[in-house]
Amino acid sequence: MEKLLVRGGNRLEGEIHISGAKNAALPLMIATLLTDETLTLHNMPRLADVAQLQKILGHLGVDIMIAGRRQGQSRFVGETVRYVARDIVDTTAPYDMVSKMRASFWVLGPLLARCGAAKVSLPGGCAIGTRPVDLYLKALAQMGADIDVEAGYVVASVHGGRLKGAHIVFPKVSVGATHVALMAATLAEGETVIENAAREPEVVDLANCLVKMGAVIEGIGTSTLHIQGKERLHGAEHSIVPDRIEAGTYAMAVAMTDGEVLLRDAQAETLSAFIDVMAQAGVAVTEEEKGLRVRRANGALRAVAVETQPFPGFPTDLQAQLMALMTRADGVSSIRETIFENRFMHVQELVRLGADITLMGDTALVKGVDRLIGAPVMATDLRASVSLVIAGLAAEGETEIHRLYHLDRGFEALEQKLSAVGADIERAAA
Ligand code: UD1
Repeated sequence: MEKLLVRGGNRLEGEIHISGAKNAALPLMIATLLTDETLTLHNMPRLADVAQLQKILGHLGVDIMIAGRRQGQSRFVGETVRYVARDIVDTTAPYDMVSKMRASFWVLGPLLARCGAAKVSLPGGCAIGTRPVDLYLKALAQMGADIDVEAGYVVASVHGGRLKGAHIVFPKVSVGATHVALMAATLAEGETVIENAAREPEVVDLANCLVKMGAVIEGIGTSTLHIQGKERLHGAEHSIVPDRIEAGTYAMAVAMTDGEVLLRDAQAETLSAFIDVMAQAGVAVTEEEKGLRVRRANGALRAVAVETQPFPGFPTDLQAQLMALMTRADGVSSIRETIFENRFMHVQELVRLGADITLMGDTALVKGVDRLIGAPVMATDLRASVSLVIAGLAAEGETEIHRLYHLDRGFEALEQKLSAVGADIERAAA
């Protein structure tokens, strides 16, 4: 077991390279199951979740080859990986693999679409709410799949072997259910319409790659997708979109220390709601040729009122980090979580560092304090864990963060990236 030691007080200055987005890399890797040709993905982040999904894909029969990085480039520049699902040797994704990462459940869609059958364990993932899968199952059933849930597994098959196009209206926006319905629809017979589709940049990235693979999709980036199913898709090459959540996280780390950093490759168009909230908080995030520059606009941080929403709203994946930042703002912030009902486990850990936070149902009231003081804390989920790093950067003395495996799932080389811009942060044996 390892822990992270953060000694607060240093200003962050310089440049941080933003990696490829985890939440785009995962569905893109899964999309390889839709074709027997090679899918080459550039700008792949090196993360525990990617490695875990590679294990599952390998188990299903996908050949994976790391083609390496381009010569002479920094170690934070993403890898190129080739995936070939020439023969799918198994259509079962077992519990011990899927339980470690929720997104691996998404193999259900492509397996059904390509092989006409799949048996996939119900998922695990971050404990941030009940996280049901009803929307996925209803969408696939509408496309003609017979679905049973037996002994913790979703067992699905398609009579006649090929899914049929359908008119799917999601009652609620779901990123994962949109990925799965979209991937399944590319190989279904006839047209599929998906209404109330998620518009997250990671959905757009997947859709763009599917088009390169021969899929016919209209409405990319809007909440209504029209897909004309094809009998087969072919190989393609695609570069993964930069990680907006990593960029937003480092932006808040920089603001917390009153520093100034260029977030290389970060894209403003994927972060507009976040940039607006930062402006209210007194943090300037400005576009430059090479990325986004972050610094405080004029001194103090100000309290904000925010609620999380599906894209293009303020992302739930930046909620915990914003709460950490607001512990040091002037005034009382109100942060409402509308996507996941239990995504406040970082609150008690931030309070251990001296934060003043009151929970009222789905809303946290964060009263800014003059000082945070380092203490041992526990990472509870992926994004919560990095909120403790942000708090630790401003805390007096040493903050000791335990349960690092959450962090390693989704942040590439976090302590190297932060120490390169001046943070006092190191990994140690727990
Ligand atoms: C994805 C992201 C996660 C992000 C979330 C919301 C990945 C790997 N993960 O998760 O980081 O926090 O989007 O932006 O991309 N829901 C149902 N029934 C379903 C499916 C979802 O009720 O069948 C609910 C969920 O409980 C939640 C809401 O829909 O309340 C949104 O969840 P969803 O967008 O599906 O999240 P994920 O795709 O799991």
